[in-house]
Amino acid sequence: MAILGGMAASIQLTVPGTLRYRNIAVRVVAEAARLVSGSVQRDPTDLLDHDVRDPFDLAVVSAFMEIFNNVAIHAYKRKDGGLIDISITVAERELTIEIKDHGQAFDLEGVAPLPTELDESTLPEGGMGIHIAKTMLDEVTYEPGPPNLWRLRKRLPAKQVAVGTSGRS
Ligand SMILES: Nc1ncnc2c1ncn2[C@@H]1O[C@H](COP(=O)(O)OP(=O)(O)OP(=O)(O)O)[C@@H](O)[C@H]1O
Ligand SMILES: [Mg+2]
Repeated sequence: MAILGGMAASIQLTVPGTLRYRNIAVRVVAEAARLVSGSVQRDPTDLLDHDVRDPFDLAVVSAFMEIFNNVAIHAYKRKDGGLIDISITVAERELTIEIKDHGQAFDLEGVAPLPTELDESTLPEGGMGIHIAKTMLDEVTYEPGPPNLWRLRKRLPAKQVAVGTSGRS
């Protein structure tokens, strides 16, 4: 699919930095993912359905939710007053999401890696969000600010053909 004649298109959204507004951002991200994956919403009349069964959409939305949660909970400490600026770039086979906040900065390198052998005794109870995001995406970077800047990127795998030509419904 040629988007703007091959150029990447960019979508901007600013929401208050609390969990109350997360679903608004998620819906925009889900629709942007759908533009890249070519997935079709199964029931377009169901306004409450994010419909992210497509693996690309699911990965993008899951990772975005974790990062949004973290910004609202850890950077803004569940307090009102801060904003989250979201910039989504839709390219032909790639989605990039930048997430900017003015909350507390932290050191991403300081987040302990998951143990390589995971079982019930080593699986942490919390602290999974960043690992989930990194697993789901091709790129997760963070630059402490202010403003703090997250960049999330996912490419459409070669075997997943974009645009509703694949016969999937
Ligand atoms: N945006 C952020 N701003 C400040 N600190 C953060 C941010 N994101 C993560 N952190 C810090 O990194 C830690 C790990 O984040 P991660 O999302 O992996 O786990 P969690 O939020 O503690 O738990 P979970 O996401 O599993 O509910 C957090 O506990 C927090 O200390
Ligand atoms: Mg988290």
